[in-house]
Amino acid sequence: MSLSLLVFYGSYRENRAGIRLADYAVGQLSARGHAVELIDAKAVGLPMLDKRYMDYPAGEAPEAMETLAGKIRAADGFLFVAGEYNWGMQPGLKNLTDHYLDEWAGRPAGLLSYSAGRLGGARSNSAWHATLTEMGMVVIPSTIAVGGITQSLDEHGQPIGDGGAALERGFPGFASALTWWAEAAKARRERD
Ligand SMILES: Cc1cc2nc3c(=O)[nH]c(=O)nc-3n(C[C@H](O)[C@H](O)[C@H](O)COP(=O)(O)O)c2cc1C
Repeated sequence: MSLSLLVFYGSYRENRAGIRLADYAVGQLSARGHAVELIDAKAVGLPMLDKRYMDYPAGEAPEAMETLAGKIRAADGFLFVAGEYNWGMQPGLKNLTDHYLDEWAGRPAGLLSYSAGRLGGARSNSAWHATLTEMGMVVIPSTIAVGGITQSLDEHGQPIGDGGAALERGFPGFASALTWWAEAAKARRERD
């Protein structure tokens, strides 16, 4: 079954490295026949949170916020590419995510975390797990933490070295788990 999947990434840094992992995920899921779109928080450019999407009267949210709301509502599943700043989440991705609530409901989310260090953003991964659950997503049990991000993926998002090999071994199972839950949720939604 071809699914509609959104891959979220949220570093605003000029020399950001996590985009490699986001590009890799988009490529891998697309190669499996799904319609996949990268949602790059920096490119979307939502303001620092003031009003959430739900706080605007219908039709009055800023265009970028409205467009993204439609994409989230229409998606079958989500993948969050989560970096780690000082043991926590990256603010750009958290800011984007907080603009929505009901729009996320009833779909699965997978977490791919990364960092420069060896723990692969594990602390950010845990923080996101709780947050996405609270927001109404079903966070799948399968996850991948990529350490040494620039030694694991080159600037084109191609796996390199031992870290890249580990990612390539783990990704098929991760993708299968995400798409299994996305198909299940889609089938349930179609009964409504
Ligand atoms: C503000 C800041 C805080 C960081 N904190 C951590 C950290 O807590 N743990 C870690 O493993 N790496 C940390 N790093 C290193 C990042 O994992 C690395 O720079 C990574 O490439 C950041 O993602 P990005 O390039 O997509 O922005 C930090 C980097 C920055 C800029």
